[in-house]
Order: sequence, then structure tokens, then C-alpha cells
Amino acid sequence: MDQERWSAVDRYVSGLLVPSDPALDEALRASEAAGLPPISVSPNQGKLLQLLARIHGARTVLEIGTLGGYSTIWLARALPADGRLVTLEANPAHAEVARANIARAGLAGIVDLRLGRALETLPILEAEGLGPFDLVFVDADKPSNPDYFAWALRLARRGTVIVVDNVVRGGAVVDPSSADPGVQGVRRLLAMMAAEPRVEVTAIQTVGGKGYDGFALALVTADG
Ligand code: SAH
Ligand code: DHB
Ligand code: MG
Repeated sequence: MDQERWSAVDRYVSGLLVPSDPALDEALRASEAAGLPPISVSPNQGKLLQLLARIHGARTVLEIGTLGGYSTIWLARALPADGRLVTLEANPAHAEVARANIARAGLAGIVDLRLGRALETLPILEAEGLGPFDLVFVDADKPSNPDYFAWALRLARRGTVIVVDNVVRGGAVVDPSSADPGVQGVRRLLAMMAAEPRVEVTAIQTVGGKGYDGFALALVTADG
């Protein structure tokens, strides 16, 4: 099995099950045109996030790592009209592309994009009294994953769902001596999750158009 086959299957299942959508297609096109890296979730992963949010009945979502707003649009569309999605992005160029994409999708009233490094904007959200969030999607710089998980818990309640993207990294996650700070961030995250009595967690490997990676899924089982 190889990348070409994984991509073919992603095209097949997405073609069947994830109808193309003008706002989502345009978000990817505009992101590419602006030179953003092609690291958004895939269409079938975006729909998985949306289904998780709907299954959970989420009304509030926190996303850490916006890029061009592709996953943001998937998640925001799961929310009711009075729902709210707060998304955090450090790169001004990414945020500008995302704002346009979110507005084009008709979601500017639901999505609150905060420009700044997440470890600086998260305390502001807390000070504003935002949260607890029903679902948190962590998908920013991987070395900070342990800090983002701690913040996700701070802004959670019993029943909050936490999803963390990119926890397998082509399998590199099994290498304790990896020199990649992203891999070390994921390993510290998973160790923290394992030791945290307030969550139940699993992690799942995935292959597809975005390569060989995976996500962690946590349910918060106790209040703050
Ligand atoms: N969730 C997006 C992809 C996010 S890519 C999607 O699937 O569509 C990761 C993003 O995190 C990038 O845009 C990067 O600029 C941003 N990022 C990196 N470090 C960050 C930080 N410290 N705070 C907030 N965002 C950060
Ligand atoms: C990277 C980041 C992501 O969020 C992703 O989905 C894939 C790759 C990266 O920083 O390399
Ligand atoms: Mg990701």
C-alpha cells in the first residue's frame, strides 16, 4: 500500500460521500493561490469533524490553528445559528485568507477569529469568560500540543470532546529519541493524556490524501 493508493481511495470515498461545495472548494483554492501550505484536513476528515460536532450536539467550538479556515468552515456549519466558533491563528497572512473564506461561506457571524499566538490569546478567552467549549480541535504548532491540551481542559466541562490532529506523523511518533520537536510534542501530549484522570482518550492512525497520520480523541469526564 502506498500514497498513490491512499489518495485514490480518498478521492473515491470523498467523491461518493462528500459532495463538493462552493465555499469549501473556494476556501482551498484561495488558500493555495495565497501560497498557504496544503495542510488543511482532507474533505472526508473535515466531514468527520463536522459529524462529531453534530453527534455531540455542539453549540460552541474552540479551534487552535485556523490556516485558511477550511476545518473552521466544516466545524462552524455543524453549529446552530446562535452557536459560536472561536479559532486562533498566529500568522496574519493565514488569518487574512481565513477571514475572507469564512465570510464567503456566510459564517462571519458565528466564527470569531483571534489573531495571535494561541498561548497568548487563550488566557484572553478565559479572562473574557468564554467557554466552557463543547468541542475543542487542536491543530496548530505540534511542539505546543501539551500546552494546548492543558488549555483545552481549562476551557472544558464534563462532556467536552477534544480532538487533536497529526498525532502519528508518518509513524515517527513511536521513536522516543526523535529529534523532531513536533514528534516530541505529540509524545508529551499522549503521555499527558494517558496520565490525566479527567479524560478518556484513544488515538487512531489514518492514511489518505494527506499521508499517514492520525488523531487523538478525548472525552472530558470530570468538571474543570
Ligand atoms: N486547522 C486547519 C489547519 C491548521 S495548520 C485546517 O485543517 O484547515 C496549522 C496552523 O496553525 C497554521 O496556520 C499556523 O500558522 C498556525 N499556528 C502555528 N503556530 C501557532 C500558534 N502558536 N498559535 C496559533 N496558531 C499557530
Ligand atoms: C503540519 C500541520 C498540520 O496541521 C497538518 O495537518 C499537517 C502538517 C505541519 O506542520 O507539518
Ligand atoms: Mg493538522
